[in-house]
Amino acid sequence: MSKTILETQHITKSFFGVKVLDDISFSLASGEVHALIGENGAGKSTLVKIIMGIYQRDEGRIFLDSEEVFFQAPRDALQHGISIIQQELAPIMDIDVAEYLYVGRELHKLELGPLSVVDQRRQRAEAKALFEGLDIDINPRSLMRDLSVAQMQLVEITKAISLSSKIIIMDEPTSAITYKEVETLFEQIRKLKKRGVGVIYISHKMEEIFTIADRITVLRDGKHIGTDLAENFTVDKAIKMMVGREIKEVYPKQKVAIGEPVLEVQHLSSKHQFHDINFCLRKGEILGIAGLVGAGRSELVECIFGITKADEGRVLVHGQAVQINHPKTAIRQRVALITEDRGHTGLNLKTSVEHNISLAHLERLARFGVIDRRTEAKAADSHINQLKIKALSRKSLVRSLSGGNQQKVVLAKWLLTEPDIIILDEPTRGIDVGSKRDIYLLMGELAKAGKAILMISSEIPELMGLSDRIIVLAAGRLTGELPQEKFTQEEIMTYASKFEVLHDEK
Ligand SMILES: Nc1ncnc2c1ncn2[C@@H]1O[C@H](COP(=O)(O)OP(=O)(O)O)[C@@H](O)[C@H]1O
Ligand SMILES: [Mg+2]
Repeated sequence: MSKTILETQHITKSFFGVKVLDDISFSLASGEVHALIGENGAGKSTLVKIIMGIYQRDEGRIFLDSEEVFFQAPRDALQHGISIIQQELAPIMDIDVAEYLYVGRELHKLELGPLSVVDQRRQRAEAKALFEGLDIDINPRSLMRDLSVAQMQLVEITKAISLSSKIIIMDEPTSAITYKEVETLFEQIRKLKKRGVGVIYISHKMEEIFTIADRITVLRDGKHIGTDLAENFTVDKAIKMMVGREIKEVYPKQKVAIGEPVLEVQHLSSKHQFHDINFCLRKGEILGIAGLVGAGRSELVECIFGITKADEGRVLVHGQAVQINHPKTAIRQRVALITEDRGHTGLNLKTSVEHNISLAHLERLARFGVIDRRTEAKAADSHINQLKIKALSRKSLVRSLSGGNQQKVVLAKWLLTEPDIIILDEPTRGIDVGSKRDIYLLMGELAKAGKAILMISSEIPELMGLSDRIIVLAAGRLTGELPQEKFTQEEIMTYASKFEVLHDEK
């Protein structure tokens, strides 16, 4: 291992009396990518903000090249060669790229103090040379606001390099960029390594970490769980350390007998979204849909649910071809779609849990001409119990619940429509571990009760842990299908990355 350039010793930090970092020791070597991983709220961002001088530590010491440092503000860290690309990028939008690169250290035509004139031409030329040196295709004259998130990141990396940063911190840099852009980012990281730059890479995405990291440190609830070379980790081990449980406990999967086809999708196509999709979902089965951002997974299930129309192909429910042109038709066919976008799924944050639960149900109730308030209340209560929704009562406002509990309300709401086919689009994104587990348990119960479940997830371990079978989409096409015994992260990623070939074929 090469030379250690950064070391934190016994860092402790509390916010309002709550310890969010407890005795964290961490080190970074030159040319190393050290991944910092952990669930939401584990303390990753707080640790790097302390290194950067954005927050002040309560206890502990920080050493840079073996010398103790005390940064009062990010400016101090920058001067010592540490840069951060934050989770929430907040660049100045109304200036061009070249100006942005030189904010605070403008290149001047004449050094006349307050009368100095910025040398725009030289800044642009320097910016152009910097980009060329890094093989980055960005026009220095573009306005910052016209760049994509990925391009802004590349500008930030270029800025860090032009500041001769020895350490670059990236806090969840890929949360808003596409798979192709991740590849570009990784190419830049590999170049940084060659220059001897140390990178602290924060993420909770397994496939990324195992692609790019040399070492991995796991944080959980503000505690240091372990550090080791990436090659000594497996996905299972990493997850176990992140969540503190065995994988079987993390994804409680029940043995369920799989029955007859319930949903058949045949040659389904929708222009520019997906093409010739075929699959079959059976009673009691959990079928996972894997794919990268932009693969067309959400578009596919939205089409099945009648939000959009297919150009070609057909959908069979219980062996009968059905025309689902509207979500109402889907609900009548006993199909439910639960999306990650809780606002969009029709959660009314300003009303009560009970009201929200009965919304989707109302149509059915109204068909019988009466709305029986008492039955409604009873149904709401039983779901609150079954789903362990943490609310003071069914009268509580949905807004007052945590994200995980809101998601459970969405589920409860749809379960009242008594669906046979349940489609879940990223059902656990952004929710806490405990609620995730409740949702996994519920999925098991539903499958056991004979429901057919179609689940989209970007967390491959989650898909592998819960599905009976996985289909993979890439660039709108079905590129692979795997039975449970064939599940491996690598296999799924290979199918998911097939889109370049497909694009070339077109
Ligand atoms: N400025 C702050 N004020 C109060 N609490 C904070 C602040 N920043 C972070 N926290 C809390 O510290 C814990 C760790 O957060 P964070 O470091 O952002 O975690 P991660 O980046 O691993 O998701 C969380 O419980 C979070 O709510
Ligand atoms: Mg964070």
